[in-house]
Amino acid sequence: MAFLPSWLCVLVGYFSASLAGTSNLSDIEPPLWKESPGQLSDYRVENSMYIINPWVYLERMGMYKILLNQTARYFAKFAPENEQNILWGLPLQYGWQYRTGRLADPTRQTNCGYESGDHMCISVDSWWADLNYFLSSLPFLAAVDSGIMGISSDQVRLLPPPKNERKFCYDVSSCRSSFLETMNKWNTFYQYLQSPFSKFDDLLKYLWAAHTSTLADTIKSFEDRYDYYSQTEAHFERSWVLAVDHLAAVLFPTTLIRVSQFQKGLPPRILLNTDVAPFISDFTAFQNVVLFLLNSLHVIILYLLQVIFVQKNLMYLEFIRNLAPEFMEITPETFNLKLQEMINELKMKNSNLTISNFKQLM
Ligand SMILES: *[C@@H]1O[C@H](CO)[C@@H](O)[C@H](O)[C@H]1NC(C)=O
Ligand SMILES: *[C@@H]1O[C@H](CO)[C@@H](O)[C@H](O)[C@H]1NC(C)=O
Repeated sequence: MAFLPSWLCVLVGYFSASLAGTSNLSDIEPPLWKESPGQLSDYRVENSMYIINPWVYLERMGMYKILLNQTARYFAKFAPENEQNILWGLPLQYGWQYRTGRLADPTRQTNCGYESGDHMCISVDSWWADLNYFLSSLPFLAAVDSGIMGISSDQVRLLPPPKNERKFCYDVSSCRSSFLETMNKWNTFYQYLQSPFSKFDDLLKYLWAAHTSTLADTIKSFEDRYDYYSQTEAHFERSWVLAVDHLAAVLFPTTLIRVSQFQKGLPPRILLNTDVAPFISDFTAFQNVVLFLLNSLHVIILYLLQVIFVQKNLMYLEFIRNLAPEFMEITPETFNLKLQEMINELKMKNSNLTISNFKQLM
């Protein structure tokens, strides 16, 4: 049933397609984007090395801001204002983690990341912060290594967290020695990016390859973090990893507008044990549905079959088959058979499904 999160992608695409466009791009920038460092010279310099503390919200965001700035020229041919820069997904997700309290110390042993304490602090005990460390440092250092930043590879160093130092890497050479294959994937992305003939879909392919490789390399190091969270949040974290894999499989376009629309469906705070989707009272309907779908499988199939069944949209069907890799192994005959079985089940359950009575099915 591992293919289900990809059905989720379809649904999210389906919902977000109906959301209205955004007129002012600066309204959807991540939190404190304007306040973050925008050039390397905004950081401390020691022995002609730039020193960045990625355990401070603004300093880590600054790495993204510089990356977005330095890569903007390669995306100018796709749209104005850097909107189609597919690196936007990274700072936006990081911003969502900050806004929703996910970068704070989940053990509450310190006041790191809390409004009442050091609210710019990023906790090394946060599962989200640890994985994001690699999704910020590796793309950034690989960009330095690729020559995109205009400085040499040994001119940047990141500072370690207060503990667990050995779980991380801090500069181009140490990250290359720990994560050679992944760093090469980021380099491949930047090399292709600099080609005047780069195509949007191929850029997405290289970006997602580097992204999933980064997670695959690092996720195991932080499994002990799950215990710091409620069961619902830990479950969401695991589901999230699966969902990301499937966003990668469909080459979800991680542009500014698309990602910010997608984020409207993500939980706006850390989940508590008492949270039962889709009945969380302080979540929007969209957030409830997305969380529910992430955690539940059966209903998604029924619902999406309804979408296909009612709309009889063959292109849509083809699209789903393409994006759910498991379906690739199914021949057209067995696919149709399976489909028919599921449609029969759907008919038995409810012959007249619509989005508005979707909830009744739950
Ligand atoms: C967009 O929003 C920013 C800040 O909220 C504001 O300074 C700017 O003037 C706005 N631009 C437009 C075109 O409305
Ligand atoms: C990049 O940063 C420089 C210096 O801060 C700024 O002048 C320029 O407008 C930025 N470019 C983009 C595309 O954001």
